[in-house]
Amino acid sequence: MHVTTLTLAFLTGLPSAIAATPYSTWMASSSLARKAAVDRRYVSSVLLEGIQKAAILHPNSTLLTHASNSISSLVDSAGTVTGWNPTAYSLDDLRVGNNILYFWNAGGRNNTSKYVNAVKSLRSQLDHYPRTPTGGFWHRDPVYKNQMWLDGLYMAQPFYATYTSYFDASNTTAWNDIALQFDLIEQHCRNKTSGLLVHGYDESKTAVWADSITGASPHVWDRAVGWYFMALVEVLQVYPKESANYAKLQGYLKTLAVALAKTQDTAGGWWLVMDDPYPGKAGNYIESSGTAMFTYGFLKGVRTGLLDAKYRTTAEKAYKLMLSKFVKTESDGTISWQGTVEVGSLNSNGSYEYYIGVPLSPNDGKGVGPFISASVEYETWKET
Ligand SMILES: *[C@@H]1O[C@H](CO)[C@@H](O)[C@H](O)[C@H]1NC(C)=O
Ligand SMILES: *[C@@H]1O[C@H](CO)[C@@H](O)[C@H](O)[C@H]1NC(C)=O
Ligand SMILES: *[C@@H]1O[C@H](CO)[C@@H](O)[C@H](O)[C@H]1NC(C)=O
Ligand SMILES: *[C@@H]1O[C@H](CO)[C@@H](O)[C@H](O)[C@H]1NC(C)=O
Ligand SMILES: *[C@@H]1O[C@H](CO)[C@@H](O)[C@H](O)[C@H]1NC(C)=O
Ligand SMILES: *[C@@H]1O[C@H](CO)[C@@H](O)[C@H](O)[C@H]1NC(C)=O
Repeated sequence: MHVTTLTLAFLTGLPSAIAATPYSTWMASSSLARKAAVDRRYVSSVLLEGIQKAAILHPNSTLLTHASNSISSLVDSAGTVTGWNPTAYSLDDLRVGNNILYFWNAGGRNNTSKYVNAVKSLRSQLDHYPRTPTGGFWHRDPVYKNQMWLDGLYMAQPFYATYTSYFDASNTTAWNDIALQFDLIEQHCRNKTSGLLVHGYDESKTAVWADSITGASPHVWDRAVGWYFMALVEVLQVYPKESANYAKLQGYLKTLAVALAKTQDTAGGWWLVMDDPYPGKAGNYIESSGTAMFTYGFLKGVRTGLLDAKYRTTAEKAYKLMLSKFVKTESDGTISWQGTVEVGSLNSNGSYEYYIGVPLSPNDGKGVGPFISASVEYETWKET
């Protein structure tokens, strides 16, 4: 092992301490070495968030500058997120608001900064954003009108909540509106028996996959549940504790945690299609982005007091599986990330055959970002 490390270090010119490089730093640096795309879309936002967290835990100015400059490059001097259209409604496009808020806050909340204008524009879109008859934000206009997907809760609600906590903390209407988005998902997508949530629902019940009574889509897709789990953890970091909604949201998180612990495979991961009887069925597999998101959500949930410490056992088992199954050491000394499904969309027929037929996408930011964030949580736990 020692010889291998030294040989590798010699061949690649990397420091011989490479074996001691934390996975968060290593994967973040590998992502830079691969020149992962930087743009305003959520995949890039999720990856840059992981890189930024890695750079803070184990201080690394190269990584931090990369994350900071990348976000800055997306916002022009007037505070316009380049290419973003305030009347093109897609929840995915709001995710970058979290990265902008992070750097505005970390930079001392300098109000003259272009970042304030950028987050105010993103936030004001929600004031005229199209909604379902009961008040849920459409996943996207017009293709997913009247539909809510679990994914969308992650794309918009942590931004809406963090923005509100910074700029509009006494706005009860906004806090209630945020809670309503989760309530609607819970009412339509949660299976009370399994504790899991299906991918989304169509309030108009017209989509090919929509249940004629509830509007729900038929299957539980691991990444959608991962987005949702992380959304709850993130929103609860900033949600007012004195609100009655707080305990309700935490309840949603806790019941989902129970269901996730129950559906964890014996080796430590989670199946792409999680609902019975599909785990273990032909074509189904242990998917890495969902596994990384659950690991991150459990560890951060425990660290911040939202979840019982017993879930560290669940997370550690998953983390070790990720290292052995999804993280691959390359000959150039970088590590790559495997096992992330490219997409799962309700633009499909929503069937089991659809989900398992989507190809894998190596080094996909939707897996790499959450893996780095999970590593940051794991290392934070182990190093303290
Ligand atoms: C910091 O990040 C850079 C760029 O990815 C990397 O080359 C360097 O090894 C990292 N430093 C440490 C101490 O890990
Ligand atoms: C705030 O940002 C502006 C524009 O970037 C800069 O000119 C100014 O010096 C900053 N002020 C502080 C207190 O950092
Ligand atoms: C900066 O903006 C925040 C949030 O809107 C506000 O609370 C604060 O008073 C502002 N500070 C200055 C110096 O304008
Ligand atoms: C409070 O939040 C609601 C809901 O988002 C919004 O319509 C309203 O404009 C906000 N009020 C203020 C003073 O910003
Ligand atoms: C809810 O989950 C249970 C247990 O897995 C399952 O038997 C049932 O079919 C599910 N209900 C729906 C509506 O999918
Ligand atoms: C649903 O779509 C998949 C391909 O995405 C296809 O294999 C399957 O046959 C379709 N099912 C139905 C019922 O149309």
